Amino acid sequence: MKIKPTLIFACIFITFLGCNTLNIKGNDPNKEMDNFIAKLMKEMTIEEKIGQLNLLVANADDGLITGEAQNSNLELKIKKGEVGGMFGSRLKSVKKIRQIQQLAMEESRLKIPLLFGLDVIHGYETVFPIPLGLAASWDMQAIEKSARIAAIEASANGLCWVFSPMVDICRDPRWGRIAESAGEDPYLGSEIAKAMVRGYQGDFSRSDNVLACIKHFALYGAAEAGRDYNTTDMSRLRMYNEYFPPYKAAVDAGAGSVMASFNDVDGIPATANPWLMTEVLRKQWGFNGFVVSDYTGIDEMIQHGIGDSMEVSVRTLKAGVDMDMVSEYFLKNLKTALNEGKVSERDIDSACRRILEAKYKLGLFQNPYKYCDAERAKTEVYTDEHHAAARKIASESFVLFKNSKNTLPLKKSGNIALVGPLANNRANMLGTWSIAADFDKPATLLEALRTAVGNSTNIRYAKGSHLTTDSVLEARFVRDKRWSLGRESEKRSDTEMLNEALHIASQSDVIVAALGESAEMSGESSSRSDLNIPDAQQTLLKELLKTGKPVVLVLFTGRPLTLTWENEHVPAILNVWFGGSETASAIADVLFGDVNPSGKLTVSFPKNVGQIPVYYNHKNTGRPMPKGQNFTKFRTGYLDVDNEPLYPFGFGLSYTQFEYSDVKLNASEMTRQGKITASVTVSNRGKYDGKEVVQLYIRDMEGSITRPVKELKGFQKIFLQAGESKTVSFDITPEMLKFYNYDLEYICEAGEFSVMIGGNSRDVKTARFRLK
Ligand code: BGC
Repeated sequence: MKIKPTLIFACIFITFLGCNTLNIKGNDPNKEMDNFIAKLMKEMTIEEKIGQLNLLVANADDGLITGEAQNSNLELKIKKGEVGGMFGSRLKSVKKIRQIQQLAMEESRLKIPLLFGLDVIHGYETVFPIPLGLAASWDMQAIEKSARIAAIEASANGLCWVFSPMVDICRDPRWGRIAESAGEDPYLGSEIAKAMVRGYQGDFSRSDNVLACIKHFALYGAAEAGRDYNTTDMSRLRMYNEYFPPYKAAVDAGAGSVMASFNDVDGIPATANPWLMTEVLRKQWGFNGFVVSDYTGIDEMIQHGIGDSMEVSVRTLKAGVDMDMVSEYFLKNLKTALNEGKVSERDIDSACRRILEAKYKLGLFQNPYKYCDAERAKTEVYTDEHHAAARKIASESFVLFKNSKNTLPLKKSGNIALVGPLANNRANMLGTWSIAADFDKPATLLEALRTAVGNSTNIRYAKGSHLTTDSVLEARFVRDKRWSLGRESEKRSDTEMLNEALHIASQSDVIVAALGESAEMSGESSSRSDLNIPDAQQTLLKELLKTGKPVVLVLFTGRPLTLTWENEHVPAILNVWFGGSETASAIADVLFGDVNPSGKLTVSFPKNVGQIPVYYNHKNTGRPMPKGQNFTKFRTGYLDVDNEPLYPFGFGLSYTQFEYSDVKLNASEMTRQGKITASVTVSNRGKYDGKEVVQLYIRDMEGSITRPVKELKGFQKIFLQAGESKTVSFDITPEMLKFYNYDLEYICEAGEFSVMIGGNSRDVKTARFRLK
């Protein structure tokens, strides 16, 4: 038989690719892996297999971690092969990780390397904006780069696994963890999920690629009443069409692990939900990585009320969760469960195999110290290049809500009164989940403004108020003194603080008020029922406005706040979230016009808490409110507020103004094999060059089920010089019109569609076509 040269070449190429990807010699990388793991598992005792399923947090009181005691509890467990991996901020040291890995490699019977993970959520030591801010940049390349940099820094410090991306769709800003999400939209959320997975994992071939973890599967962002850890309940249609897409996108992008959520889904906690973990995740989506429970997620199911310690352990394993984070219930119960016939050896084997596969793919069997390069830790973390990237994306994550009379940008020569409890603080710039960062490193806003103007006398500072008048409330969220805003050391009375601020305000040309939430007011276990700027700061803001000087509100927040009053009275509002390590310089860049703001919201800002949930991709109902009306009897609405959010999804101003032409379609009908091109011309009519996020929305006008009034289907971030115009085109394909129908089939249906293009989800130009 003759073999074609091209075939030989293809074989060599594939072999090369395989070796490269998995760092291993051989023809078929998957087969190599299967053989290797099968051989290893043959030698493993049942205890050692169960040990692989055990993920422990590095505790402050364990001698191995503190370096104080030999033969600590943890040390003994590792030697016995009872630990599969470890995580936690106490592992922030290559030396420590190497030492623990050495224990597994030198003193455990089978020398199976451990996984080392951490909540690297929006950067490692170089911190990027909180995810809700990152999303507002609408810049997928920059978001991917942020994950890439996080992976470089984390892996340089010994880690091979990050508990990110968090891809929970969230429409309830009371929930503190909205700060960690990409917002309310499934399409944008999916694009961001993919970018993050790419950034973290690459193809695992390099020692700076780390394993991503999609979380929290599933529906964690739909906690009732926005109360953290609360129950969720929704139709499968809503799950598939609105909440599942980002998880699925991250699975499709190849994410190697998934974290189960704390909440129940359809009456069964996600952690023990076989429909979710096996039917949807593995069978329907083809996920082939491993699933880890969330922190003590297994033992919490006793509180959920679905069984005792044995029952919940068995149900978790049987549902398809492979690794037990912290509760150690697998370790405690699975052997007995096996002996009593409650689980099979196959169940344990499958879970063990998936964890070993992850270790293999990461290259840990080849080199357990692949991530323990002390030299890298010295040279690849918190570098100038990483700062520059963080500063750039931070400045593009800020959202300009209002800028009347061109209050912004500010002149560098003016006299500025910088006021507010967040104006002269470092740690709070970083936002929630910045556990690997050095809290003393970020510049304060005061320092950054002074650096930017090059003259410290132009900028005078006064704190003006505490975060809130309620010190008991404040103590709840300032859980660690590193985030303190100095209440303890403050000698002045509230009135004295206010008077000092008013005094410097009266001598200034403009007041910059740095107000809002502190970092710990959002994030895990930080739900709020009142979304106003806290009381003391509102009082301060009102007093500052009474001076008659122009006021720029620089708003720090981890969630949408209710800003109805502020929007009416404050001339300029710049929402800066928590921008990470470079927050302060990035704010200076935007305030002084070195960067023209281009961030757009990925979550709606409600007018009041009663409107929640308010989101752009809602259903029309049979009684929609007539356009332009605030209230009509017997129409869906409220007596006391209209249905629109204060700032809609996709919204954000610029120092320049963009104008949109009408939408042009190149055809009025689309076939199943065809496509339609929609175009608009966008013109920069203002005086500044600027970036604009052009957004494409589609509405299915005639569905077999009710469909949202609009859904984001595409976007392009473009740059236009002052006076310049560009035509922006989107190809619309039948694939983009698909949704899950009543039988959960993913299809598109013939009928009429509305195409909407604009600079936010409210102000759009419309055209229509039919799908045949
Ligand atoms: C959070 C997870 C996190 C885990 C480990 C849990 O409380 O819900 O998001 O990854 O802790 O720190």
